[in-house]
Amino acid sequence: MAKGNDGNLLQHGVELAAVSAITNHSLHLTCTHSMAPQESFPAPSRNRRLCHWLNSGLDFPSVAAYRRNEASLDRYPNTAELVASIIGDDNISGDLFEVSENKVTELLARWSETDLHVHGNSWRQGLSKVKPPAPETSWLFTMDPMTFLPDTEGPVDDDAMLRPNDVSLLIKYFQNVGVVGPKWVISIFCFELRSGPVNYYDLFLSEMRRMSNGLSLGMASFQVTYGNPHVAAVFSPSEDVIEQIGREWQVLHNV
Ligand SMILES: C[S@@+](CC[C@H](N)C(=O)[O-])C[C@H]1O[C@@H](n2cnc3c(N)ncnc32)[C@H](O)[C@@H]1O
Repeated sequence: MAKGNDGNLLQHGVELAAVSAITNHSLHLTCTHSMAPQESFPAPSRNRRLCHWLNSGLDFPSVAAYRRNEASLDRYPNTAELVASIIGDDNISGDLFEVSENKVTELLARWSETDLHVHGNSWRQGLSKVKPPAPETSWLFTMDPMTFLPDTEGPVDDDAMLRPNDVSLLIKYFQNVGVVGPKWVISIFCFELRSGPVNYYDLFLSEMRRMSNGLSLGMASFQVTYGNPHVAAVFSPSEDVIEQIGREWQVLHNV
């Protein structure tokens, strides 16, 4: 897990850029790997980008959301908290998946009065039952697995990794949904792609292209690299949305 270091900042920077590109009011949100509402994490050994962002004059949605949540190394918010601080609890509907029992208990307590439904099971088990919103609704479907691996690299039981077989599952799900709304964004984040005997980075990118082609969606990828790269892929039917996310991430990355 790359909590609190540049991997999570890539995730939240891109997610919040996507939210601001598709809505200024309500959002349907699906998080496949939710985390607890807040978690603590060890101090990053280098590049304290969170502190740097918070001390900068930037007012991008992700930085504003970190400030509103008083994000710190001890109390690092998950995606739903960040989104809620921008658009309000009452304006979020959707589904949160999480497998850790303690985290599920916290999520249930946090969202029990709202239309954001918490599922204490794996996203793989729940995906086929995720009800897509109406096509005109703004929808962020976001995934934060640990890293990307070949299908042959285990343990392959329903775990925290993402593999080509999972990409096939996603393609099948979205193909079954049929229409893709103009304000729908899918985002996928994978941490520390090793270059090893198999180049995981190349594998991730080729699988993301397979998904983009399979769903006829535009796709862009972003990364933070200090060795093994943390990567993001975003998919949307709208080139404008993808460009807006890319422009915002570029500025954040260079701060
Ligand atoms: C990298 S963290 C998620 C970080 C979070 N999305 C955020 O906003 O920063 C991974 C989380 O996914 C959960 N998880 C692992 N495997 C899962 C699965 N198959 N389905 C759902 N959640 C899973 C873990 O318990 C952990 O809390």
